[in-house]
Amino acid sequence: MPKIQGLFDAARSAEIVNERMSPQADPRLREIMGVVVRHLHAAIREASITTEEWMAGITFLTETGQTCTDWRQEFILLSDTLGVSMLVDAINHDRPESATDNTVLGPFYVPQSPHYANGADIALDGKGEPVLVEGRVTDGEGNPVAGASIEVWQANEDGFYDVQQKGIQPEWNLRGQFTSEADGAYSFRSVKPRHYAIPHDGPVGRMLEALGRGPVRPAHMHFIVMAPGFDTVTTHIFTPDCPYLSQDPVFGVKESLIADFKVIDDADRAAKASISNPFQAVRVNFELVRTS
Ligand code: BEZ
Ligand code: FE
Repeated sequence: MPKIQGLFDAARSAEIVNERMSPQADPRLREIMGVVVRHLHAAIREASITTEEWMAGITFLTETGQTCTDWRQEFILLSDTLGVSMLVDAINHDRPESATDNTVLGPFYVPQSPHYANGADIALDGKGEPVLVEGRVTDGEGNPVAGASIEVWQANEDGFYDVQQKGIQPEWNLRGQFTSEADGAYSFRSVKPRHYAIPHDGPVGRMLEALGRGPVRPAHMHFIVMAPGFDTVTTHIFTPDCPYLSQDPVFGVKESLIADFKVIDDADRAAKASISNPFQAVRVNFELVRTS
């Protein structure tokens, strides 16, 4: 009997699977799948995975998929909580030291939020501790970037985004888009962000609990800053006094993103900014990197 080629062989399991790929398959797909299969087989071998454990893993992934809806992406949450979202971003954005760092986008971004004039208040529910956010958008040489779009979104003082509390919070509460002026400056009024728990009533929440990891993200504001000819920045600022800074379940904290919130007692400045005195203020400058 001639020997049949390509049959499963536990000693060469990953190679057997990878050799089945057609030489005509997309080369990048071949490369990626080759690596994934190699590492998956190595992991199963290294951890001596039992049949029951493998079935539990399949059940977990099945439930992760079944938890996804139009408004809930449990697989992105899994990627975030395994540090993979941050790793993919890091290996694709090797920016100069002084440039603004990226961090996770998260599931609560909603495109096409209202455009406001600089100085506007995005806290439509009137709740929370008022904060004046001011800053400039510049290039790597400190030149102003005029006409940059600065999109912001954050949770309210109860720790929920507007989209999590439809009918409770006003639509577009704590979201908006601003445009930098000729000198790169922008500003808006909001409220001090508060820590909150990522959605943890699904399989990812159960995974975190089983691993003794908490679901609470440190207090932050989200930003997307974009301008023609520059790499788009997706980032946050974090409050420096939040007790959860070192426990972010999605590993989004970078030291460069911890902002300096100051208490200001200045009646003239408060009147100019239409904010009650005293107030909190934070400077958030964005240094963008040219794409070409
Ligand atoms: C957020 O900050 O909105 C977020 C990021 C990652 C996972 C869940 C929430
Ligand atoms: Fe967030």
